[in-house]
Amino acid sequence: MSLLDKHKKIETNATLLLVLSLLVVSVGGIVEIAPLFYLENTIEEVEGVRPYSPLELEGREVYIREGCYVCHSQMIRPMRDEVERYGHYSLAAESMYDHPFQWGSKRTGPDLARVGGRYSDEWHVDHMTDPQSVVPESVMPKYGFLSDSMLDGKYIGELMATHRMVGVPYTDEMIAEAKADFKNQADPDSDWDDLVERYPNAQVRNFDGQDGISEMDALIAYLQMLGTLVDFSTFTPDASR
Ligand code: HEC
Repeated sequence: MSLLDKHKKIETNATLLLVLSLLVVSVGGIVEIAPLFYLENTIEEVEGVRPYSPLELEGREVYIREGCYVCHSQMIRPMRDEVERYGHYSLAAESMYDHPFQWGSKRTGPDLARVGGRYSDEWHVDHMTDPQSVVPESVMPKYGFLSDSMLDGKYIGELMATHRMVGVPYTDEMIAEAKADFKNQADPDSDWDDLVERYPNAQVRNFDGQDGISEMDALIAYLQMLGTLVDFSTFTPDASR
């Protein structure tokens, strides 16, 4: 009996075909999935990556609430055109504290994974208030109302505690100091040493240039840190994993 004839037997017997297909699929499944249960972590740890500071985390909430992800992705694919336009491709570790993640698949606007430091705070205020005044052909909506919406950080500790429940390593101290850290990051005259110790590389400024802390401050604090935590001049991927 030739090989084709044997195959004919399988292909003309629905039950046999089903049983054998299931067998093949399960072997493939087990080989791929089982090892994952024995790995402690599938994300390579990368120096510099830390949980969001309270103000950045609040800015991220505004970003999600306003649906910025509908038009903006936050994942630079490892392809030449992407890397030349946006910078080093995104690492898994860079979004390990993102719940939910913001990778996205729709790019009406540019990818924002490394937008931090690309523009000044004033540029962001102008652009957010009236995108067309900066980029005339832009289809981005206006978000000027964020400047008038003031924040007091009342529930920021609770928000951080919620993120801790899903695995972000916020310490008791970070949560206890959340409200103070929240305010201090937007006030360069405050006593922000401890804040920067808790959240290395946190940027302390009056982001929107007006008194008080607005949603604009929080959103810009978030945008300005995106993609800035890892130092790619010293980063080398761990080839052993
Ligand atoms: C309807 C789609 C749309 C939405 C929603 C949107 N944007 Fe945009 N965004 C764009 C487009 C298109 C551009 C490119 C033109 C421009 O710079 O305005 C852009 C550009 C940007 C840039 C400049 C990026 C760069 O590298 O030049 C930033 C920052 C930005 N958007 C932030 C945001 C934030 C924050 C939100 C939510 C508050 C948001 N966008 C919502 C479409 C959108």
